[in-house]
Amino acid sequence: MKFIKKNYGWLIVTILAILPLIPLSNMLNTVLVNGITSTEGENAIGMLYHISGEFAIRWMTAVLTCTPFFILFGVNNLFVRQAMGITTAVWSFLHFIIFIWADGFLETFTQVNYVAGFIAVLILIPLFFTSNRKSMKKMKMNWKKLQSYAYLAIILSLLHIAILEKTYLIYAIIVGLGFIIRIPIVKNRFLIIRTK
Ligand code: HEM
Repeated sequence: MKFIKKNYGWLIVTILAILPLIPLSNMLNTVLVNGITSTEGENAIGMLYHISGEFAIRWMTAVLTCTPFFILFGVNNLFVRQAMGITTAVWSFLHFIIFIWADGFLETFTQVNYVAGFIAVLILIPLFFTSNRKSMKKMKMNWKKLQSYAYLAIILSLLHIAILEKTYLIYAIIVGLGFIIRIPIVKNRFLIIRTK
């Protein structure tokens, strides 16, 4: 009970992160049973892209909303945030693995939107491996610097989704508002209001 009380934040993140694996495995099964080139297989591949891509961008948006959330409400939990970061990377990697499986690795370099997504995935690799207490202690100030590349990753991901003409505006608005809240003058105003 004590463990759950202490760790409920990242336990919730873990459960939410794992749940979409259920529809994902159903779709995977459909492709394996019917074949990748069948109509059912192609529809299922489309769903696999949809599920993995949507969860990748949702988690990425959520991670980058942590700091503005702290500025507005004073609530922050670094370990929950790290769990959210790991979830973002895992869903992005899954999305890319599905692509490699369905279309092949070299297909990545045929469209600007895929290249943008690919660079975002590359950025997520070091972020994934350093999203833990040990790396944080070891890297000290460099850790924050490295983690700030997450901003570049979300800009590239949003570019990828926008070029594909999929839903991106809601994420762009949330991330954009977050950036505004971080501007020192705006941030200080909120901090004064909150601590009054
Ligand atoms: C090498 C990297 C990537 C490749 C090759 C790739 C490829 C694709 C493909 C083929 C689609 C489906 C397009 C369609 O249905 O017409 C897609 C959709 C999508 N991707 Fe990626 N992607 C990559 C990285 C990312 C990253 C890093 C994110 C976000 C963090 C992302 C988020 C999305 C989203 C949200 C969709 C739309 C899903 C939907 O609503 O149907 N992708 N991607």
